[in-house]
Amino acid sequence: MADLSVNFAGIRAPNPFWLASAPPTDKEYNVVRAFKAGWGGVVWKTLGEEGPPIVNVSGPRYGAMHASDRRVIGFNNIELITDRPLQVNLEEIKRVKKEWPDRAMVVSLMVPCDEESWKKILQRVEWTECDGVELNFGCPHGMSERGMGAAVGQVPEYVEMVTRWCKQHTRMPVIVKLTPNVGNILRPAEAAVKGGADAVSLINTVNSMMGVDLDAMSPWPHVGGKGTHGGMCGPVVKPIALNMVAEIARTPATRTPATRGIAMSGIGGIESWKDAAEYMALGCGTVQVCTAAMVYGFKIVEEMKAGLSDWMDTKGYRTIEDFRGMAAPKVTDWQHLNLDYVVKAHIDQDLCISCGRCHIACEDTSHQAITNLVNGVRRFEVIEEECVGCNLCAVVCPVENCITMVEMTEGVDPRTGIAVGGHRTWMEHPNNPMARNPQAAGVAGTVAEPAE
Ligand SMILES: Cc1cc2nc3c(=O)[nH]c(=O)nc-3n(C[C@H](O)[C@H](O)[C@H](O)COP(=O)(O)O)c2cc1C
Ligand code: SF4
Ligand code: SF4
Repeated sequence: MADLSVNFAGIRAPNPFWLASAPPTDKEYNVVRAFKAGWGGVVWKTLGEEGPPIVNVSGPRYGAMHASDRRVIGFNNIELITDRPLQVNLEEIKRVKKEWPDRAMVVSLMVPCDEESWKKILQRVEWTECDGVELNFGCPHGMSERGMGAAVGQVPEYVEMVTRWCKQHTRMPVIVKLTPNVGNILRPAEAAVKGGADAVSLINTVNSMMGVDLDAMSPWPHVGGKGTHGGMCGPVVKPIALNMVAEIARTPATRTPATRGIAMSGIGGIESWKDAAEYMALGCGTVQVCTAAMVYGFKIVEEMKAGLSDWMDTKGYRTIEDFRGMAAPKVTDWQHLNLDYVVKAHIDQDLCISCGRCHIACEDTSHQAITNLVNGVRRFEVIEEECVGCNLCAVVCPVENCITMVEMTEGVDPRTGIAVGGHRTWMEHPNNPMARNPQAAGVAGTVAEPAE
């Protein structure tokens, strides 16, 4: 049976499934229930400095985007950091860590951007004997207007400065949690590396507005008639997070400072073992979960652990290190893709229910490459002379695996008349005016094809 245990930046845990800093980790009661359910670790809900307690709105602080079956695919919040007193949180953290010594206990922090404030909170947190701290440079609402959270995370110089202070004032591993609300995730990631971070975690929530209430004529949900932007998470943000994780994982060692190789904790839309395995394949050593636990409860970790373990057994991976990061070298820039690679859509006539969606999609918006009538009979067939292999029909087909993309491995593409099997990227393609000078053909500032 696969060994799921992890050593993440020096923090040990029986499995890589940790709860992200959020309501599921806001208090002892929740965290103990989570550990009983089998979570490998938690990042405690963000603590702030001592003082008057944080005040949250008493109106709706959550909103959601639902699929047509009411499944929550996007989740939004305008909640602040913990609104419970600092000392109460610290005592609970100490107690829980003592009772559950094998689980990872990381404490999330956010205090004003001055060295003394960070020094002070780190000393208080060390007393709990927790395993590490996570710097919350990501909250996009409420706290950022007060100069914290994303207001720090969006300025690489601040990220580096605060990370360096933290490394100076604590012996605990320091994880820097990144905000996705930036133009280029490499800038804050590099700043974290420069500041000496032991790891990065990503992503925090995405700036967003879930909707507009057309009766109240205000954002939805609203608090007493007015709304504000919030932070979005859940399944819809997973593609954003995966891309950012991949960017950090693939930055070449030649770039200074290289982010490739920094320990990463993947966060965003993780609901199942497969979501987690995808983050790990791109290089993450642990994953963190918030929305799925809030929507389905703590027991989802059972499926996550069993599923990952079974899959690893099938593949012959003994530990997570055996496959961690394996997909990262396959991430490249557009100009390095093989333009001679050819696929054609294939419809499995036994599975087809003749709904016609593929025909309409291809006819109206793609390449007019799917019939709806053959010899006067309703039938959906691919016209290979027109098909560009775009995948749209497979995306819209309601029957799983009914439409697949099949690679042409020999012969001539009937659409272009070009023999298949070649390998030309944009860098050497004859249509590229700069192709004779492959270096100039690359887009300035993009990452060169990494050596495998
Ligand atoms: C209601 C709510 C409160 C959150 N509070 C915090 C917080 O205090 N500190 C923090 O670092 N992230 C906070 N987050 C962000 C989560 O930790 C996580 O980064 C984000 O939700 C993405 O993961 P998910 O898609 O699994 O939810 C919060 C998220 C939600 C939904
Ligand atoms: S892959 Fe694209 S072009 Fe080909 S049949 Fe499907 S939708 Fe049409
Ligand atoms: S969308 Fe799928 S099921 Fe519907 S007609 Fe096309 S192939 Fe058949």
